[in-house]
Amino acid sequence: MLYLTRRETFNAGHRLFKPEWSDEENSRVYGKCSNPLWHGHNYILYVTVKGQLNPETGFVVNIKTLSKIIREHVIDKTDHMNINTQVDFMKGRIASSENLAMAIWDVLDPHIKFLGIELHCIKIVETENNHVEYYGN
Ligand code: NI
Repeated sequence: MLYLTRRETFNAGHRLFKPEWSDEENSRVYGKCSNPLWHGHNYILYVTVKGQLNPETGFVVNIKTLSKIIREHVIDKTDHMNINTQVDFMKGRIASSENLAMAIWDVLDPHIKFLGIELHCIKIVETENNHVEYYGN
C-alpha cells in the first residue's frame, strides 16, 4: 500500500462559539478564538490518500487530479471566506479544526473513491502549534 499526501493552503476567518452560551462562557471555553469580531488563520490542509501503484503511470493517482478535486471542493469554498457564515459544508457546526477536518473528509471522500483510491487522513494545521488529524472514524 502506498500513501500519498497533497498539501494545500487557505486563509479563512472564524469564531469559536456556541450561540446558546453567553459571550463570557464562550470566552472561558474558547479563549481568543471566540473573539466576537472574528479573526483568521492561515490554514494548511494535508490530504493523504492510499492505494496500489498503477504500473502504467507509476503513480497511486495523478497528484494534479487530486489537487484539482481539493481546490474545487474545499479551497475555492474556504479561501478568504468566513468559515462560520460562508462555508456551506460547515453550516451548523462549531468552526473548530476538528469539525473542519471531519467535514472536509465527508466532502472529499466520494470524489476520492471515484478515482479508485481511498482517503486515509485529513490533517488541518491551524497554527504552528495546533494540528488535528482525522482518519474517518
Ligand atoms: Ni481561531
